[in-house]
Amino acid sequence: MITREQVLEVLRDVEDPEIHKSIVELEMVKDIDIRGSHVSVEVLLTIRGCPLHTTIENAVREKLLALDGVETVDVKIGHMNDEERAKFTSKLRGRPEPQSVPPILAPDSGIQFIAVASGKGGVGKSTVTANLAKAMAAQGLRVGIIDADIYGFSIPGIFGVKTKRPTVIDDLIIPIEVAGVKLISMHFFVPDNSPVVWRGPMLGKMLRNFFGEVHWGDLDVVLLDLPPGTGDIAMDVHQLLPKSKEIIVTTPQAGASDVAVRAGVMGMRTNHEIIGVVENMSYLECGHCGERTYVFGRGGGERVASELRTELLAQIPLANMDEQATPLFEEGTRQAEVFHALAQKIVDKTGLGQAVAAESRTS
Ligand SMILES: Nc1ncnc2c1ncn2[C@@H]1O[C@H](COP(=O)(O)OP(=O)(O)O)[C@@H](O)[C@H]1O
Ligand SMILES: [Mg+2]
Repeated sequence: MITREQVLEVLRDVEDPEIHKSIVELEMVKDIDIRGSHVSVEVLLTIRGCPLHTTIENAVREKLLALDGVETVDVKIGHMNDEERAKFTSKLRGRPEPQSVPPILAPDSGIQFIAVASGKGGVGKSTVTANLAKAMAAQGLRVGIIDADIYGFSIPGIFGVKTKRPTVIDDLIIPIEVAGVKLISMHFFVPDNSPVVWRGPMLGKMLRNFFGEVHWGDLDVVLLDLPPGTGDIAMDVHQLLPKSKEIIVTTPQAGASDVAVRAGVMGMRTNHEIIGVVENMSYLECGHCGERTYVFGRGGGERVASELRTELLAQIPLANMDEQATPLFEEGTRQAEVFHALAQKIVDKTGLGQAVAAESRTS
């Protein structure tokens, strides 16, 4: 005799492929009907035409057929009505009241925020954010990126997911996951190539949505790619951020380092603790003899670090972008090596090492 409980028990292992939670826990399984050795169930999906419905359907069928005594299975795919969907999204948010603090900003969330700032654009702030995130994910951390560079968003391009669009269930957004990193960016919410012309209040609202309306799930660390500079927009975004740590990116030349110091000072004014400085495009290394050419001069990173009374965490060599197809540096390159060392330093400095240890225990 097959019971309803047995059916639910085996289906507990089936996860929604986007939300990474059990379909039983999400109450997506309805209408369980058992007649002898025949079991039929209905699985309710959030939206009509969900492209992943066959993935779920097959997983459910497989699990049911593996159950002792089951010979035939009928899996129906249904869709939630408005009421069911509202219940579903509030369950995902974890808190029913819409005005409450978003789960990832809750003081007990245990998530570290690290903002990546620079005095000016073009120094490699986004490149550093993306490669650092990838290196941290490779260490076993659960990593998210908020592309807070509302006007100059480039994170989706770096990860090669420019044409993707996140799934939106009512007003809950599922971040795009790539290279073990969950990302969200303005890019996903503007029509192709149209410039973003939103001003103050809209901008703040959008950024707040990135915290509150995105289903981040469990994370250890969120990196924020801040707008460059020390102007109003950068200041607004700084102020919106929760208590965050901060990394300053600069290039080696004097002009870049002056303005990087100002960006660091601005971060401190908003109570961000500066973890250190990353100098990017530090030198070009000859692939044959290892000789270094200091294309943009030397000393910028050291200078910024000493003026902000912090340390120079890493010097990223210049890559030959003609040979290097992707700005996410591949394993085996000098750049990837330096980013792994940088990730390790940051993990040690911020106490994220405990999260790495916990994850390796559970997996
Ligand atoms: N270490 C590096 N070697 C070679 N090119 C780099 C390096 N870092 C960044 N770049 C390139 O420089 C440009 C600016 O980098 P980006 O990360 O977009 O800067 P920002 O976010 O500060 O504006 C991009 O085209 C990027 O591919
Ligand atoms: Mg950028």
